[in-house]
Amino acid sequence: MDSIRIKGGVPLTGSIAISGAKNAALPLMACGLLTDETLTLTNAARLADLATMTDLLSQHGITVEWQGRAIHLGGKITNNVAPYDIVRKMRASILVLGPLLARVGEARVSLPGGCAIGTRPVDLHLKGLEAMGAKIELDGGYVNASAPQGLHGATIVFPFVSVGATENLLMAASLASGTTTLKNAAREPEITDLARCLIAMGATISGLGTDTLIIEGVKSLHGATHAILPDRIEAGTYACAAAITGGNLLLENARAADLGAVLHSLRDAGVAVTEEPTGLRVCRANGLHGVDVMTEPFPGFPTDMQAQFMALMAVAEGASMITETIFENRFMHVPELNRMGARINVHGSSAIIRGVRQLSGAPVMATDLRASFSLVLAGLAASGETTIARVYHLDRGYESVEQKLAACGARIERIA
Ligand code: EPZ
Repeated sequence: MDSIRIKGGVPLTGSIAISGAKNAALPLMACGLLTDETLTLTNAARLADLATMTDLLSQHGITVEWQGRAIHLGGKITNNVAPYDIVRKMRASILVLGPLLARVGEARVSLPGGCAIGTRPVDLHLKGLEAMGAKIELDGGYVNASAPQGLHGATIVFPFVSVGATENLLMAASLASGTTTLKNAAREPEITDLARCLIAMGATISGLGTDTLIIEGVKSLHGATHAILPDRIEAGTYACAAAITGGNLLLENARAADLGAVLHSLRDAGVAVTEEPTGLRVCRANGLHGVDVMTEPFPGFPTDMQAQFMALMAVAEGASMITETIFENRFMHVPELNRMGARINVHGSSAIIRGVRQLSGAPVMATDLRASFSLVLAGLAASGETTIARVYHLDRGYESVEQKLAACGARIERIA
C-alpha cells in the first residue's frame, strides 16, 4: 500500500488543471448500457473508480476503450449480473441497475453494502423502480429486478434528496414508456450533466437544474459525444490547499457556479476568490477566521467538501462549527487531524473546531476518499513531515495529486 510523505509549510503558487468530475463520469459511463451505438465521453480523469466502472461495464458486454481522456463505450449487453466482488469496491456500481432494467428487462445487481461513511442504503433507487413497474426481490445480498413488460412512467416524490437515486431513475425513465416526473430530485451539477448527455442521446428531459425532472420515455437512444464537466469537488479541494498554505493558485476550468456555497464560505473565512477567463484564482493574503458550515444537497455546502474545509478551519483564528447532515459517519478525519495538533470535538453530527496557529506533521491514516485529502491539506500546512498511509483512498477520486501539488511548490512524494 502506497503512502504519501509531505514536508509542510510551503505556500502553493501556480496553476492546477481541474480534471473531469468523477461523480459525473460514473453515471455517464453507465449510459453506455442505454444504447448499442457508441457513446464517447471526453475530459475523463484517470481515476481508480473509473477503472472499476470500466471493469463492471466490460463484464456486462460493453466495450470500453480509453484513448487518453476519451472513453468510447459501445457493444451489446450480454450479461445482466453485477457481481459482488466489483460492486463492493465501488458503491456507484448500483447505477447499472436502472439502465440494465430499462434495456433488457432483467438485472441481478449486488447490493453495494455500506462503506466507511455510512450504511448507504439504496431503498429509494428500488422503490422508484418498483413505481415504474419493476419487480424487485432481495436474495443473498443481491437485488433481483425484472420488468418483463418494460418500465412505465410514474410520478416519484423523493422523501429526501438522493443523488444516486435521481441518476438511476433518470436513466431508467429515459427508456420507459410514458412520462416520469421526479420530484425533490437532486440538483447537483453532475445530474444536469447526465441529463444533458441523455438529451444528446435522444432522451426528452425538462426541468434541468430544478428539483422536478420530467422525462418523456423514448423507444431507443443513440450514440453521442459528451464532454464531462470539471470536478467541482476537486476544484474546492485545491481552493482549500491555496487557502491553508497561504498561497495563490489558479484553478483552470473551475466553474464558480458549481461551487457557490463553498466560495461563499471561503470568502467568509477571509479567502480571496476571483473569476478569471480560464478559471478561478484563490489566494489568501491575510488571516483566516472560523466560519460555521452545514452540509446540504446542492446548492448548499457539499458534504464532499466537509473534511477538506474542516482541515482549513483547524488553522483558522477563532472557533467554527461544521454540521454533517447527509451522512451518519463522516468525521473519521477528526482523530487524525487531532493527532496533528488540531483541536476538534465531535458532538453528534456537529464538530466544534478551535483554530490553532500551527499543525504539526505526524504519521496519519486515510480512511475514505475525502478524509484522505483533508490529511493532505493539513500536511501541506503543518510544520515538519506528515506521512499518510492507505492513499489508495485518494487515488479513487483525485488524479495525479503529487504531480499537481509538486508543480505548485509542495514538497510531496509517494512512497510505494
Ligand atoms: C453521491 O453518493 C456521491 N457519489 C457522493 O460522493 C456524495 O457524497 C453524495 O452523492 C451526496 O452528494 C457519487 O456520485 C458516485 P445520496 P450517493 O444518494 O448517490 C441516503 C465522494 O466522496 N440514501 O445523495 O450514494 C444516503 O445513505 C462520494 O465522491 C438513502 O437512505 O448519495 C445518504 O445518507 C461520497 N437511501 C443520503 O441519502 C437511498 O436509496 C444521500 O445519499 C439513497 C441514499
